[in-house]
This record gives sequence, C-alpha cells and structure tokens, in this order.
Amino acid sequence: RHTGIGLARVDTMLSPDQLLQAADRFGTPLYVYDASEIDTALKRVRDAFPGARIFYAMKANSNFAVLRRLRAQGVGFEAVSPGELARTRFLGCAGDEVIVNGPAKSAQEYQHGAEMGATFVIDREEEVSLLPPGARVLVRVNPGLPVSTHDHLATGAAHAKFGVPLQGVVQVFSAAREAGLQIRGLHLHIGSSIRDSADFGVAFGQLTTLAPQLRELGFGQLEVLDVGGGWGLRADLPGIAAAAREAQSAFGARELWVEPGRYLVALAGVLLTRVVGTKRTARSFVLCDAGMTELLRPMLYDAKHPVTPLWDAPERHVYDLAGPACESGDVLRRDVELPTPSPGALLAVGEAGAYGAVMSSSYLSRSRPAEVLWDGGWQLIRRRERPEDVWAAEVEPESGAVSY
Ligand code: LLP
Repeated sequence: RHTGIGLARVDTMLSPDQLLQAADRFGTPLYVYDASEIDTALKRVRDAFPGARIFYAMKANSNFAVLRRLRAQGVGFEAVSPGELARTRFLGCAGDEVIVNGPAKSAQEYQHGAEMGATFVIDREEEVSLLPPGARVLVRVNPGLPVSTHDHLATGAAHAKFGVPLQGVVQVFSAAREAGLQIRGLHLHIGSSIRDSADFGVAFGQLTTLAPQLRELGFGQLEVLDVGGGWGLRADLPGIAAAAREAQSAFGARELWVEPGRYLVALAGVLLTRVVGTKRTARSFVLCDAGMTELLRPMLYDAKHPVTPLWDAPERHVYDLAGPACESGDVLRRDVELPTPSPGALLAVGEAGAYGAVMSSSYLSRSRPAEVLWDGGWQLIRRRERPEDVWAAEVEPESGAVSY
C-alpha cells in the first residue's frame, strides 16, 4: 500500500487511489474511516494496559458503526449526554458496559442510567442527593494541576469546571456513603491531547495523596480506579500505564479503568475535501469545500491536522486552506506547501477520526457530510444530510404550532 495520508503507520492505511474512489463515489466533503486502524489502536491500548477495562469516550466519534465495532471487542462506553446514553440503550448495553459522566447531568440521565445499572461519575457534592440510593458511583477528582494542552482541553486544572478538588473528596465519600450510594472508586481525567505524558504521572501522584484519608474513612480498598483518557496520539502509553498501576495499588483498587476517545479513532479517519479554487489577497488561499462546519478543531483549538494533496503539479506554493463559510477564521490549516491546485483536486485532512464528524454543524444551513467506513469494502455509515434534514425540526407557525 501507499504513502501516508496523514496517518502515522504506513502499512494499514488507505491508499490515495482508495480515497479518490471514495470521493468519486460518495462526494465531498466526506469522512472516511479505516476499520483496521481502529482495531490497531485498540490493540495498542490493550497491550499497554493488560487487564484494564476500556470504556470508549464516545464523544470522539459516536457513529453506531464505530460503537458496534468496539463493543464487539469487549469495549464499554462513557456517555456524557442524554443522546449518548440513548445510543447505549439503543445498542442494548448492560449497566456494567456504561459510565454516565458530565458536569451538569439531566434528570433523564440519572433516571435512565440508574435503570440500566450504569456507573455514575460524581462531579460535585450536590449530585449525591440527586442519585437514587444504591446507584453505583465513582468520585471525580480534580487534582488542580496545569496540563500541557490547549486551555480549552485542560480539565484537571484548578480553574476548570470539572471534578471535586482534592480537599473536598473525603467529604463527598462520606456524603455518598450516608446517602446509600454504592461507592466503587475514584475517577480522574486531566484533559485531552496532552502533549507531555509525564503530566499523567504527576496527576496520578497527586491523586494518591488521598489514599491515607480514604483508608481512615474505611475505604482502604477501592473497587475501581478510573484514570480517564486524554492521551496524545504519540503518547507514551506504557509510561502512563505504569503510573496508573502505581496509583491503583496505592488505593488497593481491584480494577483499573481507562476512557480513551481520541486515541482509539483519530488516526482511523480522514476528511476528504475538494479544491474549489484559489485566491490571492495579502495571503494566498486554496478554497475548499470543507471548513469549520465540517472540522472545527483548527478554529477552536488551533489544532494542526496533517494535510496531504492527492494531486501533483510542477510548481509548489505556500497556501492557507480556507473553507466556504463567511468567517475569516474559517481556515483548516495555515501555511501549507502544496502543488499548484486546479478545481476538483482532492485533499486529505488527517487525524480526523476523532472530534471531526461529531463536532460538525449545520451553521449556514450546511448539510453535514457523509461518513464511510473501509472494511474490505466501502460501507456508507452516515448519509450526507439534505437541506431538509437541516430544517426538519423547525416548526412553522402557520402549520398549527403549539408552544410548550
Ligand atoms: N473521559 C472524560 C471524562 C472526558 O471528558 C474525555 C474527553 C475523555 C475521557 C476522552 O478524552 P480523549 O482520550 O479523547 O482525549 N473536542 C475536543 C476534545 C474534548 C474532550 C473532552 N473530554 C477535541 O476536539 O480535541
């Protein structure tokens, strides 16, 4: 097979020919996933964390095809919204396959999660009284540490909205016990796309300072330590795992849980976009048929997705890749060197399997792109939206609308 389309490993990836075919057959913009790449990532996680339970953070990519593939291999799910929880119910997941998390859960999530016997992550003390007695819970700790990632992605920092600060954890444990909740253990998730894997060790170390206090309270042995996800694509998984095991033994925890999202699916996905034309202002632009509405990460986090042109030309120039939206910030990537493009030329934007399609929007009444999966053949796993899909939920007054 061929040279990399922005993917890290050359042997399993889709070839340029396959990508050109997919674009011709399904149109662009198009999300393309390689199923074997998901399996490869899962194997890497399993190898690094033998015996740990994996709960896929489905926010990264919640397409049912992805969920079913992971579930068939024994992976559970972390759900953080009524809709994500509904997906687990639709799949018929059992309670022990599901973690219900989120800083502001709805009544529906408490109810449905409890009905199925899922494990809840308590994010603040007030939640103790919102959960039904007997509910299974983890307590999320905020270690209050700086994390090497974009500030929007740092969840373990003192100013973040997540988790219970270290000094409040003992109190939440007692309150939860008094309320008759079934306390399973601790939860930690310090952020996403973390660049320096050493951050995990520091955070897990902070966490273990709680062990003596919890022991005193009668929690000498926890059932679960959940260390979340957040691993960068080039993270040192064995190093993170070693630090997690140390923390696990400090709490005498029987099970280690992990919640990778991005790591499992990012490299499996490519966003295909076609060149619409070029333009020169003070800068040189290649205008594409995809932009912020298809892939928001560059605009929201300054994320730099690898871009691979699927054409060649004798001359090369440096361009900004801009999308079709009426926003100056609608730039997929600045300063990319590309062969001179002609309209219709195809670009592959890599590392787009995580937080790509799921964060696409219908702003400007744009139709969300189609998604296809390569698994020895192409499967359409989400059809391209039509304009009427975008306005389907709107109610026009003259059609007899009632207000609630
Ligand atoms: N567990 C919890 C509690 C989380 O909040 C998250 C992500 C994960 C696990 C999975 O993290 P991952 O392994 O994917 O880094 N939209 C952003 C990412 C937001 C992640 C939020 N929480 C992005 O495009 O990078």
